[in-house]
Amino acid sequence: MIVPASRLQQLPPYVFSDIAQRIQVLTAQGHDVIRLDIGSPDGPPPPAVIEALVDSVQQPGKHGYSSYTGTPAFRQAVADYYNRRFGVVLDPATQVLPLIGSKEGLVNLCLGFLNSGDLALIPDVGYPAYERGVRLAGAEIFWLPLRADHGFLPDLDSIPAEVSARARLLLVNYPNNPTGAIADKDFYQRTIDFCRAHDILLVSDNPYFDITFDGCSAGSALQVDGALQTSVEMMSFSKTYNMGGWRLGAAVGSPEALRVLLQMKSNVDTGHFIPIYDAGVAALERTPAEWAEQRNQKYRRRRDIVMAALPSIGLEAQCPQGAIYIWARVLDGDGQTFARIALELAHVSVTPGTGFGPGGTDYVRISLCTPEDKLQIAMERLQRRVLNHD
Ligand SMILES: Cc1ncc(COP(=O)(O)O)c(C=O)c1O
Repeated sequence: MIVPASRLQQLPPYVFSDIAQRIQVLTAQGHDVIRLDIGSPDGPPPPAVIEALVDSVQQPGKHGYSSYTGTPAFRQAVADYYNRRFGVVLDPATQVLPLIGSKEGLVNLCLGFLNSGDLALIPDVGYPAYERGVRLAGAEIFWLPLRADHGFLPDLDSIPAEVSARARLLLVNYPNNPTGAIADKDFYQRTIDFCRAHDILLVSDNPYFDITFDGCSAGSALQVDGALQTSVEMMSFSKTYNMGGWRLGAAVGSPEALRVLLQMKSNVDTGHFIPIYDAGVAALERTPAEWAEQRNQKYRRRRDIVMAALPSIGLEAQCPQGAIYIWARVLDGDGQTFARIALELAHVSVTPGTGFGPGGTDYVRISLCTPEDKLQIAMERLQRRVLNHD
């Protein structure tokens, strides 16, 4: 018998794989399922990224193993980007570490940093890998509720003293998945002050910093004084440059924390394919501002279509200022039931909010990665079939 280790058995099921299985069955039955569950950007990367990959892949010297710390050019390009974009000066040798997507960085950092029985402060609701990383490390979770009436920011003042004293790691994510909220510099300042006061490592998961709407802009936790000593920020190419399948990101910040992450990673994985790093450099250095602006306008138009439809499908939401999701409260019933009915009756898949933490029970997450015409059809199907269900 092949029985998974108890560390795997104690994990909650990964919400997307359950949905994917059910979608497979419906599709095999001939139904056209519109997927609003997963946050995989639907457009191609900027042309310069593809050109750089093709050019690099044709060079014979680019196919061997690469360094655990990536290429110097990639690390330099990330450092230059942080300087240009946020005014944050990073040493590319010690304060930038490439990742094979930010998800592995988050989980590996938990594994490398948390001991069994340690305590981590995790947003409720949040990207599922946070909970999984902490649980795989055998550590305990103290959930920080993200409430709509608090701007979906954690209330650090409400954390009991004995919890802050024990906590070793705090995770934040703005622009936020799933709520679409953004955070200002004042929030990051308070968070860094809190972490420094209690000797906690701050992990700022920031894959959506380039995707904001209505004139809002997002910052970096590293812009705050003192942040570079106490924090790590995870950046990703998946959403910003439509490169989800390329698996490229970087951890930036505290050299000590990056050394821990590197030690963990070098026991688990090896450096990425060099042409991917070269394409990453092109993404950072050769993406026209208009390309990014058009991408944001596209998501904004999709957001407006969904926001306008919500009341007629029994949902309500705060208008997201960033990221690529709408976090919608189910007015009558719970998120799990809504998602099941939406999939079975309207053939529209949305993610039940419980996938993002215990605080998501009454919510569903609607992703904006579907073109406008299909999104309209999805909303019409939900209007016709979901509310009329008895
Ligand atoms: C908040 C958040 N963090 C991290 C990730 C993982 O991104 P990557 O593709 O870089 O692993 C995602 C992906 O959806 C996300 O939403």
